[in-house]
Amino acid sequence: MESASSPVTEPRQIVIFDTTLRDGEQSPGCAMNLPEKMEVAHALDALGVDVIEAGFPIASPGDHQAVTEIAKSVRRPIICGLARCRDKDIDRAWDALQHAERPRIHVFLATSAIHREHKLGKSKEEILSQGVTGVKRARNLCPDVEYSPEDASRTEIDFLCQMVEQAIDAGATTVNIPDTVGYATPEHMAWVMTQLKNRVPNIDRAIVSVHCHNDLGLATANSLAAVQAGAGQVECTVNGIGERAGNAPLEEVVMAMRIHEQQYRTWTRIQSDLLVPTSRTVAQYSNPPQRHKPIVGKNAFAHSAGIHQDGMNKNEGTYQIMTAESVGWTEYTLPITKHSGKSGVEAHLRAANISIDPADLDPFTARVKAYAEDRGQCPSKEVDDDHLIALLADYVMERTGGPFIPGEVIRPDERKEGRKFVKFQASTGAAMEGIAENEKEGAINGFVCGLKVVWKELTGEDIEVEEPGIESHSKGGQRGSDVPLVATIKLRSNGLAVIGTGEHVDSEKSGIFAVQNAVNRLWALRTNQRASGRDGKRVE
Ligand code: KIV
Ligand code: ZN
Repeated sequence: MESASSPVTEPRQIVIFDTTLRDGEQSPGCAMNLPEKMEVAHALDALGVDVIEAGFPIASPGDHQAVTEIAKSVRRPIICGLARCRDKDIDRAWDALQHAERPRIHVFLATSAIHREHKLGKSKEEILSQGVTGVKRARNLCPDVEYSPEDASRTEIDFLCQMVEQAIDAGATTVNIPDTVGYATPEHMAWVMTQLKNRVPNIDRAIVSVHCHNDLGLATANSLAAVQAGAGQVECTVNGIGERAGNAPLEEVVMAMRIHEQQYRTWTRIQSDLLVPTSRTVAQYSNPPQRHKPIVGKNAFAHSAGIHQDGMNKNEGTYQIMTAESVGWTEYTLPITKHSGKSGVEAHLRAANISIDPADLDPFTARVKAYAEDRGQCPSKEVDDDHLIALLADYVMERTGGPFIPGEVIRPDERKEGRKFVKFQASTGAAMEGIAENEKEGAINGFVCGLKVVWKELTGEDIEVEEPGIESHSKGGQRGSDVPLVATIKLRSNGLAVIGTGEHVDSEKSGIFAVQNAVNRLWALRTNQRASGRDGKRVE
C-alpha cells in the first residue's frame, strides 16, 4: 500500500515512557492503592515499556511508598519519579528512587506565558534560573534526568529553545516536550520538534521526548508527528487514561508505528500481544476503555454489518488492518445485530456445532434480525449465543412441532419426545393462567415449583432458576396498564442454560410466559444435545 514515506533509513528505537501510574493515576476515577499499582507496574514490565513513571513522590505518602516499592521490585525498566524544580521535591523523589536498578528523576517547570504570569508569577529569567537549578540538583543525585518545560507547545519558540538548551547544559539527558493542554495539531508538534532540532545547538546530547494530551482527540496523531520529526521517546498511558481527556494511548501509538513501519522507520520493545491483557489489568483499577476504543475496546475487532461479516468470513484482511491475535484478543468476533446477515448467523451456529438446512437460513436470519431490532426483546441490541440457539429452537419447534436436531430440521415424525413436553407445557401453562387470575401473588413461584417436580419426573434431572430470578421491564413508554412488560428468566439444567422471555401487560402473566418460553427452549436444547451426542456440553 502506498503512503508518504521518508527516505529508507535503518529503523531507530523509540523509547516507550509509560506514565499510567503518574499522569494516568492522578486523573479522576483512576486512583490506585499500593497492591494495584504493583500489579500494574509488573504488567508494564512484562509488556516491555522502557520507562515506568511510577508516581510523584512529594504528592502524597502513598505516592512515595509506591515509587519506593516499584523501584525495589521492578528491575528491568527505568523507574522514574516526578518532581517540581524545587529542592524538597527532588530530594523526596530521589529518596524513593535510590532503590531502583535504573532510576530517573523527572523535573518539570512551566514555560508558557500564561503559566509564567498567572500560575507562577515569574519572569523568563527566573524560570530559566529555576529550571537550571532543578536539573543540576537532580543530576547531582541521579545520572538519568528528564526535564519537561510544562505547556511547551504554547511557549514562545525562542524561549523554549533557550530553556531546552540550558536544561541540556545543566545535565538533562532527556528533554520532554509536553502538549500539556492538548492544544497542538500534528503540524504544530512537528514544527516545534523541527525548530528544536535545528536551533538548539546541544540538542544531540539529549533524547527529545513528546508528551501529548488528548483534549482535541489528537494525542496519538501529535505523538506520531513528533516521532516523524525526530522525537526519540513517546510518553503515553495504557488505555489513554490521564488528566481531562487523557494522554496518548500507548496501544495506539505503538500499533500505528508498527503498522506503518515503512513510514516511521521505528521499532519499540512492546510485546504487542500483551496490549489487551495489560489494558484489562489497568481497566480493573481505573476507567475502562469505551467499546469503540482502538485496539483494546470490546468493538475493536467486532464486525457487525452483514457485508463486513461476509467479507471477514472470506478474508480477514477485508475489514482488519491487524489481526485480533496480534494485540492479544483470542480472535475477532461477529456479533449478531439487526445489521448482520446470514453469513454471520451461520458462522455462529457453526461455532456452536449446529448445522442448519440451507433452506432455513434465510427465514431464520430474518427472524434473528427482527428479534435484534426489537429493543423490548433484545435490550442489549446484540443477540448473544444463548439467544441465538434459543431462537433456533423456537423456529424449529414452530415449523415442525418438535425440537430441532442439527442438519435434519424438517422431520417432525421423529419428535415424539419433544411433543410430550410441549403437551406438558401447554397444559401446565393453561392451569397456571387459571391460578394467575385468582391468586396473582405466588403464581409464578407455584409454577416454578411445579415445573421442578415435573422436569425431574420427565428427565431425572434438576432444574435451577438463576439469580436474580424473573426480571421485567416495560417495553417502551411509561409503565401503565396497556404498556407491555417483557419478563426474562434464566434456567439451568445439567450444564445447559437458556433465557426465556415473555410479554404481557400483566406482570404475572409476562413472568409465566417467560418461564414457559425458557422451559420450551431448554427442552429443545436438551433434545438437540442428546441427538448430537453432546450430553453434558455447556451451551452458554
Ligand atoms: O502534561 C504535562 O505537562 C505533564 C508534565 C508533568 C510532563 O504531565
Ligand atoms: Zn501530562
